[in-house]
Formats: sequence, structure tokens, C-alpha cells
Amino acid sequence: MATKSIAVVLGTRPEIIKLAPVIRELGERAWVIHTGQHYDAKMSGQFFEQFGIGAPDVILEGIGGANRGTQISAALQALTDLFLKNRPSAVIVQGDTNAVSAGAQAANYLGIPLIHVEAGLRSYDRAMPEELNRLVVGALADVHCAATDLNARNLLGEGVDPARVIVTGNTVVEATLASLEQGDGMIGRHFPSGIAPEKFVLATIHRPENTDSPDALERVLRGLTAIELPVVLLTHPRTRLAAERFGLTDFFDELHAIESVGHSELLDLAQAATLLVSDSGGLQEETTVLGKPLLVVRRSTERPEAVDAGFARLITPDKNIAREAAEVLENNGFGTDLRTAQSPYGDGTASRTIATIAAHIDNGHAPAQAIALVEASHDLAA
Ligand code: UD1
Repeated sequence: MATKSIAVVLGTRPEIIKLAPVIRELGERAWVIHTGQHYDAKMSGQFFEQFGIGAPDVILEGIGGANRGTQISAALQALTDLFLKNRPSAVIVQGDTNAVSAGAQAANYLGIPLIHVEAGLRSYDRAMPEELNRLVVGALADVHCAATDLNARNLLGEGVDPARVIVTGNTVVEATLASLEQGDGMIGRHFPSGIAPEKFVLATIHRPENTDSPDALERVLRGLTAIELPVVLLTHPRTRLAAERFGLTDFFDELHAIESVGHSELLDLAQAATLLVSDSGGLQEETTVLGKPLLVVRRSTERPEAVDAGFARLITPDKNIAREAAEVLENNGFGTDLRTAQSPYGDGTASRTIATIAAHIDNGHAPAQAIALVEASHDLAA
């Protein structure tokens, strides 16, 4: 079997979380390249340790903290140089970050088959950098691994060849189950008294739409402080830097703000919380495994499945966060029993399916053939 023949390009915390199970499935074939978009140990390093996938084979330099154009162009150049020296049989990217745009372009322009994990999400909000990254990778990918039927339909509606689309489920399901198993449930250490309150709200905020203007950030932080339960706010570097810039850090004391934590610690906190409030994409998926109600503080969502399945509600800027929270707390959720509701993101087999497609390509099959082989084996197993 070839070693380090399939490149996995990633750059941020959620990509590490969601690609770790794919990397484990790929085994010796995985060649892991970190673009360096996230560079703090808390945002990146600890995740490699936690998931037992070892350090990345390559970490690019000069990308983290740069503006969008520089992040993408510098990573595209560096990846092109790498792939010219050592051509992988396929490149895997996941999601919609700047690292994905760079990895997708580098692969496609060199004619290397590109596998996109979590393909076909659309918010139809062009003000989101991620939506543009999704459109770019959607145009370039050779294999689109859609997490849900809706995601597959979005791609087909844009004219993508059905032979290149496969519904795999989302790798977040197996990533979440694995991290939950590793958790120790000792959430008291995140609270100053060493004891977690019986009921609390867990909030995470990091999207540009909520952090990049003083008004937007103040609205969200003020809304969170008005919630009747204690709030634990996980602060992303983007949020922390913005609060410092806009003089809003006083809210952090009121909200009990803590810095980024590991995936199993985050899930332990989320599992113990009564309500989640977040603009994160990952939490919209993870909450369907945890069975917790989530208020999504965003203008739009590319993940309507969690809302449709009764796990989440979209809180657009015209709505009052504290009032919406009070309603959910009073009604104990959104009216369905979330502990028994089915996750719309699959059964925990996505990573194996994706790694098998990549292995078929590595063994010389064309992308559409690799998908057909996997689909035929699923039919046989059914
Ligand atoms: C990126 C992704 C977003 C994803 C998020 C997960 C894009 C366009 N956005 O957003 O989709 O949800 O990651 O976290 O790719 N910073 C640090 N330390 C770090 C990383 C970042 O201090 O380790 C600072 C940067 O210097 C910058 C800010 O945080 O000032 C934003 O970082 P950036 O990587 O540009 O975007 P994210 O907001 O993290």
C-alpha cells in the first residue's frame, strides 16, 4: 500500500476535529498538511494530540493572522510547490474555510483529484466568506461528499454531475461520539468556585457578522448577559481581539468567559448545559448527537437540517436573544424530545465511506468510478 499518497489539507480547529476520523481511516496513506491558518496551541496543536493522529506532516508558515487574500494566495502557492515536488494521488479538504479554498485550487490547477468533505452546504448569504469558499470548492471538486440529501440536492441544482456526488453523512457524528467517550465530565474546573452551577447556558460566538462591528458584538454580549441563567462564554481569539478593540471586555467578566477548550471538554460542557447559544457551524451538528436545544445567533444558516429536526432555532439580529432563551428554558426545548430524536447527520460511518473512496482513487480508479464502487458495496451490504 502506498504511504502518504493522499494529501489531507486543513487549517482550522473544526477541520481537525472533523477530519481526524478520516485521517485515522486512511492510516499510512494520509499525508497531513496544516496551512497554519489557526496557529495557537489552543486552536490547533491540542487537537492533534487529543485525536491521536500525530503531528501534521507539514505546517505552512506565514498564513495565520493574515488577511483573507493573503491566507488563500500564500497557501495556494505553498501547496502548489509541495504538490509539484511530491504529487499526491488525491487531495481531501473539508468544509468552507480559507484553507479549503487554497487546498481545492492547488489540487484542481494541477489536475489532482479533489475530494470535498461536507459538500453542498449553502447559506445563500454572499457576505459570509465561508459561502464564497463553498462556491469555489463546489466548482472545483471531483468528489462531493454531501452530508445530507439536502446538501446533495443543492449541488445537483447547480449542475454538478450526479455521478460525482455521494451522500455520506457528516464525520462530525463519529468525531463527537469519540470525543464524548474521552471526556471525564469534570466540568467544575471551568468555574471559579470549582463547582458547576446546576443550570447554565453555554455560549460560543466567533463569526464576523457577530464580532466585526462594535454594535453587533455589543448586541450579542448584552443579550447573553440578560439571560436569567449563568452563562459560560467560550471565547475564540477573533471574539477576544474584537472585544479588546471595541472596549467591550467588561461583558466577559459578567458572562464568565473562558478561552478555547479541547473538543471533549467542550462536549462535556455542552452536555451539562441546559441551553446552547452559538453561531458555530459545528455545534449545530454536534447538538443533534448531544440532544440539546441550540439558539443559532446568525442571519442565516447553511445547516437547516438541525432546525428542521427540532434541535435548533435561528435567532436573526432582529430578535431578542434573552427573550428567545427564556422561551426555550420555560418550554424545556422546542417541543420535541431531543434525547431520542434522530441526528440528521448520519450514523457515524461517513469517515469510512470517504476514506474508501480516496483509497479507490489512490488505487487508480477515476473519481466517479470510486464513488460507484462504494455505492455498489453499500448496496451489497444492505
Ligand atoms: C475560521 C473560518 C471559520 C471557522 C473558524 C473556526 C475562514 C474564512 N473562517 O475563522 O469558518 O468557523 O475558523 O474557528 O476560514 N487567531 C488567533 N489564533 C489562532 C487563530 C486565529 O489569534 O490560532 C486570530 C487571527 O489572528 C485573526 C482572528 O483570530 O485575527 C481570525 O482568524 P481567522 O483564521 O482569519 O478566521 P476565524 O475567525 O478563526
